[in-house]
Amino acid sequence: MRILSGIQPTGSIHIGSYSGAISQWKELQQIGECIFFIADLHALTVPQEPDTFSKQVLNTAAELLAAGMDPEKCIIFIQSEIKEHTELSWYLNTITPLGELTRMTQFKEKSQQFKNNINAGLLTYPILQAADILLYQTDSVPVGKDQKQHLELAKIIARKFNQKYGKVFKVPEALLLETGAKIMALNNPKKKMSKSSPAGCLYLFDEPDIIRKKVMSAVTDPGKSIKYDPVKKPGIANLLTVYSLFAGKPISQIEKKFGKKGYAEFKKSLADLLILKLEPYRRKKKELQTREVYVREILTQGRKRAEIIAQTTIKDVRKKMGLI
Ligand code: TYM
Repeated sequence: MRILSGIQPTGSIHIGSYSGAISQWKELQQIGECIFFIADLHALTVPQEPDTFSKQVLNTAAELLAAGMDPEKCIIFIQSEIKEHTELSWYLNTITPLGELTRMTQFKEKSQQFKNNINAGLLTYPILQAADILLYQTDSVPVGKDQKQHLELAKIIARKFNQKYGKVFKVPEALLLETGAKIMALNNPKKKMSKSSPAGCLYLFDEPDIIRKKVMSAVTDPGKSIKYDPVKKPGIANLLTVYSLFAGKPISQIEKKFGKKGYAEFKKSLADLLILKLEPYRRKKKELQTREVYVREILTQGRKRAEIIAQTTIKDVRKKMGLI
């Protein structure tokens, strides 16, 4: 089974991305052929600082390794270093209906958020994502819930290409967790935790005092009971989800544990848990920050391995499309 997924290098990794995607990647690298990459081309669709961008990309690589990605068990590379991604993206552009792109939730949201920069890349973003996936003949794509719509489009594009030119692509499936596919912002539990709103994020590498502060001030709901009810109690439901994921215990067990206790005690216990569980990641990241040559070498090896697969697919695509 070939598994592929990506992450944008737009800021530090938060517990949302960790829960929805990276925790799955860690498990899957033990059992499948895994390919993970840093989606630097996707990040260019919103303003980036050229002077610091390459540092950000390397930082994301170090964070992925610190979070538990094992270069012995998976391929890790930088998207823009394999030119076949953009090449395939163009071919797929020519068969993707415009209407499919304009209805994408992320396009609508991002063009609201960046009103002065509604560039064509924001619209064609999911085509590049489809190219990322289809290039590697991917079976499964472990992602958070916000990527589900893009995955559906990748399937549509794969089928359309196969129908028009003959079978080249595998039709991929999204892998979503039952618990943790959508972690909400700590300062607004009705919104997704997102790198574009840092105030609501708890980062995987936050220091203990910051973790405590963020958890203790997380927005909760009226009432007192620690009950999982995402509609009536979205704040507590979100914190229970995080607790359950990091404790490795079902939500019902945590509800029971805090049944007669108040919000403050529950939050204090959650802060203690996160400080403890995130400690190895903080330590590993600090170590990797001093080993840039090692991180770069992993990315180079990853590129070399991924390139072989990408080039094989592109050859087939060009042939089927009648290109010389
Ligand atoms: P990105 O960088 O926004 O997020 C990386 C992964 O983290 C998941 N995620 C979340 N999961 C649960 N709760 C949250 N609050 C949360 N926030 C983020 C995302 O769903 C994602 O799985 N377009 C992609 C990157 C990409 C990609 C791909 C992914 C480019 N090409 C091909 C899969 C396959 C993105 O922007 O992810």
